[in-house]
Amino acid sequence: MEDADRLRDEVLGEISRAETPDALEAIRVAALGRRGRLTELMRGLGALAPEARREAGAALNAVKDVIAAALAEAGDRLGRAARAAQLAGERADVTLPVQTGETGRIHPISQTVDEIVAIFGEMGFVVAEGPHIEEDFYNFTALNIPPEHPARQEHDTFYLPERPDGSRLVLRTHTSPVQIRTMLAQTPPIRIIVPGRTFRADHDATHSPMFHQVEGLVIDRTTHMGHLKGCLIEFCRAFFDVEDLPVRFRPSYFPFTEPSAEVDIGCSRKGGELKIGAGGDWLEILGSGMVHPQVLRNCGIDPAEYQGFAFGMGIERVAMLKYGIPDLRTFYDSDLRWLRYYGFLPLDIPSPVRGALAGSMAGGAA
Ligand code: DAH
Repeated sequence: MEDADRLRDEVLGEISRAETPDALEAIRVAALGRRGRLTELMRGLGALAPEARREAGAALNAVKDVIAAALAEAGDRLGRAARAAQLAGERADVTLPVQTGETGRIHPISQTVDEIVAIFGEMGFVVAEGPHIEEDFYNFTALNIPPEHPARQEHDTFYLPERPDGSRLVLRTHTSPVQIRTMLAQTPPIRIIVPGRTFRADHDATHSPMFHQVEGLVIDRTTHMGHLKGCLIEFCRAFFDVEDLPVRFRPSYFPFTEPSAEVDIGCSRKGGELKIGAGGDWLEILGSGMVHPQVLRNCGIDPAEYQGFAFGMGIERVAMLKYGIPDLRTFYDSDLRWLRYYGFLPLDIPSPVRGALAGSMAGGAA
């Protein structure tokens, strides 16, 4: 059948010249598709006499098989070629040196969290986290802050709309609720460090409605005030990288600790310039205390068997002190020039013992 042979030769020619899988698909549709040339020929068979129809049908089927085989073979060939081209295009030379020129920066908050976690990690603390939207029970009640307690007003809490039962969820005002969640979920010994976001309705040069805290909690049978002091002195000296940094524990009050202490570090303000270290002046940097027996009881832990200490610290505040960042609000401006100056190079890994490695500052602020 002349038509079929000519069609076969033409289509095989097109297939051999096809350069892309798309071109090949177009050839297939034009030949074998619903309105394809071969399909049309097959449709014409109906008009033939039975004998001629059988003969022509066999010939057309043979052509169809040849074309289908050629399409499959060409498809393989083009698929392999496309894959090879793709791999060649995506090739990365892993032996090239890292480009350290124009690159992103680690935000000082992230860097400070990494440093704090690295230091406490060395002491055997593990990181714990909790939700930003919190039940009143975890944020206040279980921490020994009952409904009428003045601390509730001091926290400038953001409340969510009342629920049908009259209760309200809160944006957590501190990281302390994670103490409760951890004590309820685990059995002592417990040693956690909790970095995270916190929220209070307060906004000025030294307050932001969203800020960061880090909480610490240790619970064991023999934990005492000496452990609290040793641990926090060691932290302050490592974090600020001042080996003889004076650290002072000042009696204070928190509903969830008894006794409670605020921790100050030594500094000097000579000539109006703040310098961390021995200098006769003091800077408050964190709150701490021995976990209140009632808080332990609220979490199903027997205070006759276990005791522990806790502390909480503002991350922005210690970051500002360590890196000489003057204004709290700039942390959240997403100003690229600020980030280039105060941010950190991604490849500088904070050392576990000494915080940031010397010389890791991107912009040279001291
Ligand atoms: N939660 C306190 C605050 O937000 C900080 C704090 C003080 C946390 C003493 C503690 C602690 O775990 O023991 O101001």
